[in-house]
Amino acid sequence: MKNIVILISGGGSNMAAIVRAAEQQHWGQRLGARVAAVVSNKADAKGLVFAREHGVATEVLEHQGFASREAFDTALQQVIDRYDPAVVVLAGFMRILSPGFVAHYAGRLLNIHPSLLPAFTGLHTHQRALDAGCKFAGCTVHQVTAELDVGPIVEQAVVPVLPGDTAATLAARVLTQEHVIYPRAVANLLSTM
Ligand code: GAR
Repeated sequence: MKNIVILISGGGSNMAAIVRAAEQQHWGQRLGARVAAVVSNKADAKGLVFAREHGVATEVLEHQGFASREAFDTALQQVIDRYDPAVVVLAGFMRILSPGFVAHYAGRLLNIHPSLLPAFTGLHTHQRALDAGCKFAGCTVHQVTAELDVGPIVEQAVVPVLPGDTAATLAARVLTQEHVIYPRAVANLLSTM
């Protein structure tokens, strides 16, 4: 059985969708892997509670106290590699990763971003989509490369922008689709391994 390690910083709803997919006996595209650990850079990340309740090992590695980004990423890599992951999944992990970390997991490191990349890399994607007058928004699963939010696109989902939308209502509509495409993208990548 292959292992997945999921990195979170907050609510962890994408992580939860992947844990649930791994739990399914008859998942349409069986994940064929177990979520071996959920790692957070924040001790109060709500997603840690869900992971523990579902019997998934949790680790907290707070970035404060590390002298540099590279030092934190090296420690993070050591924590992750204890679980021997086939795939490492960034699920709302709000850290920029150093090139050495990204290279170590090349081809097996996925991220989900709440926009239709290449539009709106970075933060505040939903407000920026509204400000730009977009009629559609969405989310993207992509392979992670050294450049932020720029790696090869794996999956996308599109939602309409509706009259009266706020960043919050649009984010909620997009998030529903994130929970559909992310488990599928993880399953597809695992099936190639
Ligand atoms: C998701 O919308 C995800 O796309 C976004 O953070 C949210 C995490 O939600 N990620 C980024 O903005 C990464 N740059 P979750 O913790 O409930 O999965």
